[in-house]
Amino acid sequence: MGMNLPENPVVGVVGATGAVGRVMLDILLQRGFPASEVVAIASARSAGKQMRFGDQSLTVKALEAGAFDGIDLVLLDTPDEVAAEWAPHAVQAGAIVVDNSAAWRTDPEVPLVVPEANPEAVDAHKGIIASPNCATIGVVVPVAALHKTYQLQRLIVSTYQATSGAGRGGVEELEEQTQKLVGEMPALASGEIQGRAPKPEMFDDSIAFNILPAIGSVKQDGSTSEELKMLNESRKIMDLDSLEVITTCVRVPSVVGHGASVHATFADTVDLAEAQGVLKHAPGVKLVDLPTAHMSAGSDPCYVGRVRKDPFDEHALCFFTVSDNLRKGAALNAVQIAEILLPGW
Ligand SMILES: NC(=O)c1ccc[n+]([C@@H]2O[C@H](COP(=O)([O-])OP(=O)(O)OC[C@H]3O[C@@H](n4cnc5c(N)ncnc54)[C@H](OP(=O)(O)O)[C@@H]3O)[C@@H](O)[C@H]2O)c1
Repeated sequence: MGMNLPENPVVGVVGATGAVGRVMLDILLQRGFPASEVVAIASARSAGKQMRFGDQSLTVKALEAGAFDGIDLVLLDTPDEVAAEWAPHAVQAGAIVVDNSAAWRTDPEVPLVVPEANPEAVDAHKGIIASPNCATIGVVVPVAALHKTYQLQRLIVSTYQATSGAGRGGVEELEEQTQKLVGEMPALASGEIQGRAPKPEMFDDSIAFNILPAIGSVKQDGSTSEELKMLNESRKIMDLDSLEVITTCVRVPSVVGHGASVHATFADTVDLAEAQGVLKHAPGVKLVDLPTAHMSAGSDPCYVGRVRKDPFDEHALCFFTVSDNLRKGAALNAVQIAEILLPGW
């Protein structure tokens, strides 16, 4: 059993100036997390900047030796390499770390937690707890509820991932490119845009008015790093070592809200009305007719809809899910994990 937090922990948000970090500050406030103090930390580039936290103004500190002194809970929202280097320093300084990066997720010593699916995994922590990939969380929340009833065997997932999934730079790039192309509908429709579309920096090609069917690095077998996360992380969270997961991750020009088309195959026969009932009562799920990215932005649930049977397989169910990648896909999930560590949870 890992150690827990004090009643009123001092909380360090590392990466507070980033897309996830900013939302993390909002969520700590919105959920009334009982922090005695919140410390905003980012790179040396941001040291001294002011960040709003309710009616307070937090002065951003640089991530450097001693930055974790006196901090009980470190919420890490930085690139993978920063989390890989600094999480052990935080633990050494006596803090518990909840990490949103991919640095620790597949480490067998580190619990990977979605509180609606495997809250008990937190107990085994040795100082670091990982929060999963944003697209994976949005799929696992509804799927884990169905798994309890029908025994999950196979997932086929196609994602529709928003630009904020690539951080604040992803949204900036979408905005700049959209402004450049907004009067170019005929050229976009005829294909003449190719060759003069804005040059990409954050993505593999121009993202405005486009669809990019690869996220992350492409592996030797043709899958991408993002797709491997869906496989490895779903297996770890649901403790299903031989779960079959086939994923195609696609970046689309939305701002917030990762969507996923899910085809799930179970050991047991699926009854549609019963499955809808399971989803309706599943923690963290809101069943709606038409889940959209706009619906999810700024809100907590995984919206699930378009629920239907596979007409060719009585063991399979199809649905669409969309959730705010910065909230349930990152900051909210991490704060929910931290709440489990509070006394009296
Ligand atoms: N965006 C999502 O939907 C999402 C979802 C789940 C998980 N994640 C993961 O969460 C992490 C943060 O993602 P993000 O989207 O918020 O990225 P982001 O918008 O690019 O923000 C990155 C943050 O990390 C800080 N940082 C960068 N290098 C640093 C260093 N050397 N030392 C200290 N701080 C440093 C940045 O500080 P400066 O402002 O000073 O540069 C900034 O606050 C990533 O690991 C990402 O994979 C993201």
